[in-house]
Amino acid sequence: MRIGVLASGRGSNLQALLNARQAGQIAGEFVAVGSDQPGAFALERASQAGIPEKSFPLNSYGSRENQEENILRWLQERRVELLLLAGYMRVLSSGFISRASFPILNIHPSLLPSFPGLHAQRQALAYGVKISGCTVHFVDEGLDSGPIILQEAVPVLEGDTEETLSERILQLEHRLYPEAVGLLLNGKLEKNGRTVRIKP
Ligand code: GAR
Repeated sequence: MRIGVLASGRGSNLQALLNARQAGQIAGEFVAVGSDQPGAFALERASQAGIPEKSFPLNSYGSRENQEENILRWLQERRVELLLLAGYMRVLSSGFISRASFPILNIHPSLLPSFPGLHAQRQALAYGVKISGCTVHFVDEGLDSGPIILQEAVPVLEGDTEETLSERILQLEHRLYPEAVGLLLNGKLEKNGRTVRIKP
């Protein structure tokens, strides 16, 4: 399967996915890494791995619609069959999602449906929860609201800062995202409405 990735930042999840492919855990080919941030280190990681990369800065495209249109066209030209959001900090519009002919997955640093949107770890600390974690889910037209594939929890410890909690969750993300992608590529996911069953 031909895999595309969108990332806005340092791309440690992208790296975990690329490592998992190297290790044989992901039987797909990474064919496109796009970003809305020209300076994103994720793009550097892609080019180091020999994967075509491209940035789509909003100010070069005039409007969000035009930016998304160009992203979608590029992914289609690269014949992407699965799109992975890996720290992509923009919500894809319903127009993009309905026109994308491929499934889209996202990883989010909280136990959804708690704390969707930006700064999930900050939201968790502000709320005072004792457990947080991360979620891999299908992307639908809402904000971090699509059917959940995998979730795992970490404790929130006394004295945690946004940085320490984020780091604990990130370690989990690096294991969970490749696992979820592997399940999808191996045909182990069965989506029934909101419920995703993992076949034995
Ligand atoms: C990760 O923690 C990811 O879950 C989060 O951004 C970070 C990206 O790190 N994504 C979101 O918050 C999406 N709403 P990375 O660039 O090192 O993979």
